[in-house]
Amino acid sequence: MTAATARAHANIALVKYWGKRDAALNLPAAGSLSLTLAALTTTTTVRFDPRLPRDELTLDGAAAPATRVSAWLDLVRARAGIDHRASVTSTNDFPTASGLASSASAYAALAVAATAAAGIQLDRGALSELARRGSGSAARSIFGGFVEMGVTRAAPVPNADGWDVRMVIAVVDGGVAKQISSRDAMDRCAASSPLYAAWLATVPGDLRAARAAIRAGDLDALGRVAQGSALAMHAAALATRPSIRYLRPTTLAVLDVVDQLDHAYFTIDAGPHVKVLTSPDRADDVADRLRAIHGVSHVLISGPGGPAHLVSPR
Ligand code: DP6
Repeated sequence: MTAATARAHANIALVKYWGKRDAALNLPAAGSLSLTLAALTTTTTVRFDPRLPRDELTLDGAAAPATRVSAWLDLVRARAGIDHRASVTSTNDFPTASGLASSASAYAALAVAATAAAGIQLDRGALSELARRGSGSAARSIFGGFVEMGVTRAAPVPNADGWDVRMVIAVVDGGVAKQISSRDAMDRCAASSPLYAAWLATVPGDLRAARAAIRAGDLDALGRVAQGSALAMHAAALATRPSIRYLRPTTLAVLDVVDQLDHAYFTIDAGPHVKVLTSPDRADDVADRLRAIHGVSHVLISGPGGPAHLVSPR
């Protein structure tokens, strides 16, 4: 069978996904809304091979455990009516060790490559559902630009004509704190945080406000929603028993600096890094300010990225 190679970009949620309503189908408890980022790319090649005894995964040049990918590949095998094992080779163009490595770009690229390699054709909505089974945020990376995750799949969000934004990413040296995967953290949060229900209640209104801001090209309105959503999610995580704390001292120092900048708004995911939404003309200045903060090891600027796509065969 032929090999297929696909490419997808990571995305950063402006209205967060944090909690599931069905773990087996990996269905989110609520919607979410993100921006796909050009600067963070995963390229993945899949080859189904009748000679392979088991699925094999190579991640950034090194052999990696294939259990989770293998369970996901079973979905593709079932749809395609094939039984062959596969070799999967995946590389990120951003340092995996930076903590920015994302299951979003990984499962979006994998969905496009694996279906092509298995000889099945799915529309983007069905690809988004398939990517979701691997990772909820991956459903959004099937599409480019602003993307909203709905009940089972994602779809693009129409934005104001000619409107452009930037995301400035400050990589924070997390140091001591043990990272908890977002999957484990959201499950624990849903099970024991007294603020989980309150967090979920913020999502519908934040989605409405974010959609309206994107339609109007209103950076300040979108930025305020994004900050509020991230802080509500982290408040629920902090109140989990025992507490889940992704925010490090340097993270808080970055937030203080962002508060002083005009037209710059932060968001934070399941790690210590800070992503700042701003306008194209302010991005360099924001990046310089973040670089000057002690404990920020690396800063990068990204514009919106396009959808996941097949690289070969074309
Ligand atoms: C904080 O998509 O990694 O980045 O569906 O369990 O794989 P699983 O979770 P995942 O969670 C992402 C959480 C987040 C917020 C977001 O991207 O919306």
